[in-house]
Amino acid sequence: MTIDKKYIDQFINVTSKAAIASSFFLGKKNKIAADKAAVDNMRSELNKIDMTGEIVIGEGSLDEAPMLYTGEILGNKNGPSFDIAVDPVEGTNFVANNYPGALSVIAIAEKNNLFKAPETYMNKIATNTVGEGLIDLDYSIKKNLENLADFKNTKPENLTACILDRPRHKQIIDELKELKVKIKLITDGDVAGALMVTNPSYGVDIFLGIGGGPEGVLAAVALDAYNCNFQGRFIFDNENDIKDAKNMGISDLTKKYNLNEIVKGDAIFSATAITDTMSMKGIVKLDEFTYDTQTLTTYKTSNKNYTNIEKRKITSK
Ligand code: FBP
Repeated sequence: MTIDKKYIDQFINVTSKAAIASSFFLGKKNKIAADKAAVDNMRSELNKIDMTGEIVIGEGSLDEAPMLYTGEILGNKNGPSFDIAVDPVEGTNFVANNYPGALSVIAIAEKNNLFKAPETYMNKIATNTVGEGLIDLDYSIKKNLENLADFKNTKPENLTACILDRPRHKQIIDELKELKVKIKLITDGDVAGALMVTNPSYGVDIFLGIGGGPEGVLAAVALDAYNCNFQGRFIFDNENDIKDAKNMGISDLTKKYNLNEIVKGDAIFSATAITDTMSMKGIVKLDEFTYDTQTLTTYKTSNKNYTNIEKRKITSK
């Protein structure tokens, strides 16, 4: 089974329109309104698509989120069955404060091919293509960085590691400093952080640390199309999360997931820039109803992988 190429275009349209909707709230200091605008828009656009799409990663469970909740079925039911992961605004702080880096993101795979991720934190590690077994969540920071340096024929001090700037990362950051690794701290937006390993021009050799589990799954879909490496391990540290995980069918709560256990088969990833990113310009309003958008798309198939930044003029009323 394959996912028809025609869907790329349709999912670009979905994230573009959600990004435009949330851009009305740029700098308005209202994360919730920015997110709601994107959610409402994304849902109504998804419902126009020829598919039966199940949200496997969404805005939470039905009692927390009336729209795009995990388990919600979208689409006009006249097409294939897909698993859908959404993050209508990735970087709500960025939109609220009009900072660079905000994205509207979606990923789809065929039914039962995308991991149903609970809304907990995930410990993540991502690199570009490296030899098998060189980089592993179970290794120490030192071992991973030394292995990566050996693989790249250099020293750890010439490598750059990207990590969210959070107090929980103090120990990792101290270890990176000890190794004299260059550190790229990001304030938010770890989907984009992980994707920085995809191209040497972004200057990041390894992405690591703890961020959102759903964001980990979304990043993994794009990393798959770039043939990059990714591993993630969910962190279940309270009774509620443990209960949710068990309800979702996760029996081994300490399992480390490789990329091919998170996403299987064909998949599409679409991320439209709401504000400027390292590789894309954010939403530009041209007139009352017309906007320029830029969207990073990846399309993984069994024959060929495709990645692109699509520039599109969108009319949105
Ligand atoms: P939101 O857009 O939902 O605010 O998420 C932003 C984000 O930075 C994610 O990219 C990241 O995975 C997560 O928050 C990290 O969570 P925390 O801010 O709790 O460390």
